[in-house]
Amino acid sequence: MLDDIARVSAEFDAALAAANDKRALDDLRVHYFGRKQGLVPALFARLREVPKEQKKDAGDALNKLRDRLEQALDEKAARIAAQSVPTDTIDVTLPARMPRLGHLHPISIVRMEIEGLFKEMGYTIDPGPEIESDWYNFEALNFTPDHPARDTQDTFFVDVDKLLLRTHTSNVQIRTMEAHQPPIKVLSAGRVYRRDEITMRRSPMFHQAEGLLVDRGIHIGHLRATLEHMIRRLFGADLQMRFRPSFFPFTEPSAEVDMSCLFCRGAGCGTCSQTGWMEILGCGMVHPQVLRNCHIDPEEWSGFAFGLGVDRVAMLKFGVPNIRTLFENDLRVLQQF
Ligand code: DAH
Repeated sequence: MLDDIARVSAEFDAALAAANDKRALDDLRVHYFGRKQGLVPALFARLREVPKEQKKDAGDALNKLRDRLEQALDEKAARIAAQSVPTDTIDVTLPARMPRLGHLHPISIVRMEIEGLFKEMGYTIDPGPEIESDWYNFEALNFTPDHPARDTQDTFFVDVDKLLLRTHTSNVQIRTMEAHQPPIKVLSAGRVYRRDEITMRRSPMFHQAEGLLVDRGIHIGHLRATLEHMIRRLFGADLQMRFRPSFFPFTEPSAEVDMSCLFCRGAGCGTCSQTGWMEILGCGMVHPQVLRNCHIDPEEWSGFAFGLGVDRVAMLKFGVPNIRTLFENDLRVLQQF
């Protein structure tokens, strides 16, 4: 009996040294202490057969064995629990969760698309200033002193040196022509301001993109080809466009441009009031007086200009019916672009 106890004790030490995870340790505990076939309970059962005079020694040895084994199992279990990563619940090979990245606002997407396609055609990009003088925003552009657009109803004036918030991006035309002699090709996109109430389609701050080209022999055909290229790149090759005569003080002749309605492709629907057309920009040939205001000789040079609503394009392109949606910065909306 004592030999058997010694043998079990030695075997246990070897097995314990080899058991390096929780499962192996659990198996070991069952192997030695399991109620049905555990080796230690089996030895206790054999005590009955031990002759009387050896019983006490055998019993003492067996109690010691049981205590030592239990303690050894407990200690090792504690050590394994402290060290181990629970490999059955964490897959350390999984890719890490990426941080959420920011992205472009729909208006920036459209602005950059417009800038990109004019850059391809050799235009320089110049956003120009948002705080402007009367000269650049109105006077040099041939607005008469009593023109209604100068009215305090329409323009935000800044209380310093008769400055104002530009009401359109056309100020950049004058700044560019004052600074450079032709040939000129410039595209300006940015914020403009008007004293309007907020509605579905209007906001006191919105965005325009303005193009200006001045060179020798420029005529309205160049303007039309340029606008057609822009509209088809922005909205699709199947779209039609048309010129409607209009008036702007800084262009002569002037036109407004309609393109086929994006929603019905020209068939007529609620969005285009059944006309099949949508108004998208103003344009014209640069007025000779505007060239003269910038010391450019209208006998030698001619040019075209256009201005389009960037917010309008974004609303059409992304199907946003209310302009306010673009300025509220609700992430649930912005995340969709
Ligand atoms: N500045 C005009 C507006 O805000 C738009 C415009 C019309 C720009 C004709 C132009 C142009 O360059 O030629 O309504």
